[in-house]
Amino acid sequence: MGLVFNRRDEEGLPVAPVPGGAAKRKWTNLMPFAVALVVVAEIAFLGRLDMAKNAAMVDTLADFLYRSRAVVDGDDLGLGAAAGGGDRNSESERCEEWLEREDAVTYSRDFAKDPVFVSGGEQEWKSCSVGCKFGFSGDKKPDAAFGLPQAGGTASILRSMESAQYYAENNLAMARRRGYSIVMTTSLSSDVPVGYFSWAEYDIMAPVQPKTETALAAAFISNCGARNFRLQALEALEKSNIKIDSYGGCHRNRNERVEKVEALKHYKFSLAFENSNEEDYVTEKFFQSLVAGSVPVVVGAPNILDFAPSPGSLLQIKDIEDVESVAKSMKYLAENPEAYNQSLRWKYEGPSDSFKALVDMAAVHSSCRLCIHLATESRDKEENSPVFKKRPCKCSRGPETVYHVYVRERGRFEMESIYLRSSSLTLEALKSAVVSKFRSLNHVPIWKTERPEVLRGGNDLKLYRIYPVGLTQRQALYTFSFQGDADFRSHLESHPCAKFEVIFV
Ligand SMILES: *[C@@H]1O[C@H](CO)[C@@H](O)[C@H](O)[C@H]1NC(C)=O
Repeated sequence: MGLVFNRRDEEGLPVAPVPGGAAKRKWTNLMPFAVALVVVAEIAFLGRLDMAKNAAMVDTLADFLYRSRAVVDGDDLGLGAAAGGGDRNSESERCEEWLEREDAVTYSRDFAKDPVFVSGGEQEWKSCSVGCKFGFSGDKKPDAAFGLPQAGGTASILRSMESAQYYAENNLAMARRRGYSIVMTTSLSSDVPVGYFSWAEYDIMAPVQPKTETALAAAFISNCGARNFRLQALEALEKSNIKIDSYGGCHRNRNERVEKVEALKHYKFSLAFENSNEEDYVTEKFFQSLVAGSVPVVVGAPNILDFAPSPGSLLQIKDIEDVESVAKSMKYLAENPEAYNQSLRWKYEGPSDSFKALVDMAAVHSSCRLCIHLATESRDKEENSPVFKKRPCKCSRGPETVYHVYVRERGRFEMESIYLRSSSLTLEALKSAVVSKFRSLNHVPIWKTERPEVLRGGNDLKLYRIYPVGLTQRQALYTFSFQGDADFRSHLESHPCAKFEVIFV
């Protein structure tokens, strides 16, 4: 390891060692690749000088090794000219050090010593990247409390996994009107989403089983009543000659008691009919179908495709008029084994990045995400104080301006510094600076231990999203993007010391 950390930067200062065992854990896997160690030093080194700014994101370890060897050997990969840079670079280097010092205003609250305190809930998570305590206390004023908004200014939290069509108070706008400061519902637009999905709860990659049942689909619907058309959809499917085995109370025709997921495994299709059609309201009905490797036929969230493990992996009945064409698709797939197998392809090849990025959110317990949300709000507030307003956040030397930007992984609290130069203030430069930074820290993505083994990938970091801290997960995952480099530049100008969150897949 000495090789990595004994390098010196241009000023002759030792490069700071990376704290902690995370680095050790990761690098034991790579020990055979002696070169890789040199590489990390080089990348870290180059990252500091921001020379890798034009280097494309490196997607595979092989690519990573190849590129890095080339750098070590002195090949010119377009980085060479920059690496040889003289005054300009050392000036920028001094700029970075100056910013590191000048921008480092100490926050008044140390969450390690004075954890976020939430009243009215119970503690149920393993670990959290910010000090986080739940409980019922006497004198200590909590940062937030579960339950109805109270006089006295303590932030109140609404937490519910029920559909807003049954519990109107769960509607986001309604909850805000009623005075809740923090809303935790299945809506990805809520402050801290609570979903029915997580790697831990569902063995998503369980192998596909032979489809031995003669009925095309299985239904487990306990109650025919619902505030959507699920009963009509069920009846219309039956009318279209789709044979359905129903184990629930609704149109029951199979009387044996079975384990739901085990039973589903032997049907080609599973009727995942929710009781309401609400955005992001996707329950275990859907995820159990995925575990079973039974193609879900969905009545429910209009945006169910956001939850699909891959394109073509589900059928959706958006409207009662759709039943006929869905029935046709079911018959076609049932009679064409290859086409049917295509809809389960993700079971063999792994789900899409968008599915992983969605489910990875739940790798961090919602209680911990709540604490991160509260701690971040507290810091945001403090950053509007006069002391913080004095931070320079950028530094000009000659024709070049160096911008100080902060970045953290989704699910973690503390921010890392990166520096961007005015001469290449682009989204590409941002991405490459982020990857260099986290690579130099030997960063291990927060979902690493949560995902099924086959979906953990190698040790390389693949960037999926970068977005300003404070956006909702709906924005972060589906709707937000900078409209080009000019938009990004104007964001940096209007947000000194801008803070970003990244999602790795
Ligand atoms: C389905 O496809 C996978 C690979 O994509 C293959 O391994 C499997 O044998 C196929 N199953 C059937 C029943 O054709």
